Amino acid sequence: MTSTLDAPAVHDELTGLLAAADAQEPELHARLATRFPGSSSDPGTRPTSDEDVADLLTDAYIAVPREVGELLALLLRATGARTVVEFGTSFGISTIYLAAALRDNGGGRVITTEIEPAKADAATASLRRCGLDDLVDVRVGDARETLRGLDGPVDVLLLDGWSTLYLPVLEIVEPALRPGALVVADDTSLFPESSRPTSRVSGTRGRATGRSTSPSATDSK
Ligand SMILES: C[S@@+](CC[C@H](N)C(=O)[O-])C[C@H]1O[C@@H](n2cnc3c(N)ncnc32)[C@H](O)[C@@H]1O
Repeated sequence: MTSTLDAPAVHDELTGLLAAADAQEPELHARLATRFPGSSSDPGTRPTSDEDVADLLTDAYIAVPREVGELLALLLRATGARTVVEFGTSFGISTIYLAAALRDNGGGRVITTEIEPAKADAATASLRRCGLDDLVDVRVGDARETLRGLDGPVDVLLLDGWSTLYLPVLEIVEPALRPGALVVADDTSLFPESSRPTSRVSGTRGRATGRSTSPSATDSK
């Protein structure tokens, strides 16, 4: 079966974005090392949640790698998803994978949200270059506001913002999840203490996956 991910415009856009994300990594690590200079030798000085470092990451990609994007697309295709909600757009890399899968499924809608307006603008432009913008509603602002009152049924929820907010965002989206919906939580092992409440998602209407808090794990960065 041909995949929208193989379309030249999509492939080229993703290749460029993933390369830019990789190229940014050393500088991001340097920023963190400057803010938390003793943390490699003294664990007590490490940040304990992604919100501790959020101000250092306003222009950071921190995107899913290619293989995780492809896994997300596979999950959407396998489940025939039509309505997907994403918390944490960043520059739109994961969103492109989600939207490409919906195109393969015959259409649908990704509702994605990003608090940094410049990132949301860049993501919108990338989606347009891919020819996928008709499938995506990019909502600029705090997910705790932008995802309120969604029309369901939502087939898949991707949690990929700051993990301290996974549970509150899940609770906001939960009324719109269809029974058996898939809930995927990324980066749950980066700050295990702050994202521990995410393990409670397995008790919701959806089916939960997450790197360190659930036995049925998927995670990336
Ligand atoms: C890990 S990045 C998302 C990466 C993206 N999903 C990808 O794979 O390309 C997390 C993003 O969540 C955004 N974010 C953090 N808190 C948010 C909030 N309260 N509402 C909306 N977006 C938020 C950050 O600005 C950041 O861009």
